[in-house]
Amino acid sequence: MARGETQDPKPRHVAVIMDGNGRWARNRGLPRAAGHRRGAKVAHEVVESASRAGIEALTLFAFSSENWRRPTHEVRLLMDLLRRTIRKELAGLDANDVRLSFIGDRSRFSAALANEMAAAESRTADNDGLRLIIAVDYGGRWDIVRRARDLAAAVQAGDMTVDEIDESQFSAGMSLSGWPVPDLLIRTGGECRISNFLLWDLAYSELFFTDVLWPDFDETVLAGALDWFAGRERRFGLVAAPAARR
Ligand code: IPE
Ligand code: IPE
Ligand code: MG
Repeated sequence: MARGETQDPKPRHVAVIMDGNGRWARNRGLPRAAGHRRGAKVAHEVVESASRAGIEALTLFAFSSENWRRPTHEVRLLMDLLRRTIRKELAGLDANDVRLSFIGDRSRFSAALANEMAAAESRTADNDGLRLIIAVDYGGRWDIVRRARDLAAAVQAGDMTVDEIDESQFSAGMSLSGWPVPDLLIRTGGECRISNFLLWDLAYSELFFTDVLWPDFDETVLAGALDWFAGRERRFGLVAAPAARR
């Protein structure tokens, strides 16, 4: 098995595509902004639930590289909400020993947001509780292309040979290197797609799709996903274990 792949009934690393904020708001006759604000609140609660459930790492997809295509006012609102949420949550996360990291392309963020992110990472860098990874301006294809370019540059500089490039070498420079791969992906909002999330890292993750809209997600839905996960037989290409063979 590759880096961190496990048969444990409990996932070490859960990744979440938090989808459905806009529909939640529309269903209530509210502006999309209200759905996003509610979504941020739910993210706070899920971080607490994940810690209680003994999950080691939680990766939340907050803004994809494609979400820049949304109307300017919504993009601005999401960036602003992110900055305000980091500021509001940081002390509490730190007090709860959460280590916060961000993955994604930071080059398009305002200096204010980029600084807030860097400060949050350095303040929590020595914490050894839940590892909370927020994917912002993240795209799975961006991550793979970035790594490929780094390796090509290393070869061009004579620091490594083409033959040295293998899966573990490639993996070592991906955004999630250093963490176990996600065992479980949860997507709320009813769509059964990856939307350019962790294309490399989800190769053997169990995929849980629920119609629940993100602002309605809670500890009960999380517990349902964890129960479902515990019933999976993860084969990683092998044949079934003898006891489980039918
Ligand atoms: C997810 O909710 C939040 C982000 C993508 C930033 P959406 O905003 O995509 O909500 P729907 O899919 O329109 O309901
Ligand atoms: C995926 O949701 C991205 C995030 C949750 C941040 P989208 O709403 O952007 O996905 P699509 O456009 O429906 O595939
Ligand atoms: Mg959506």
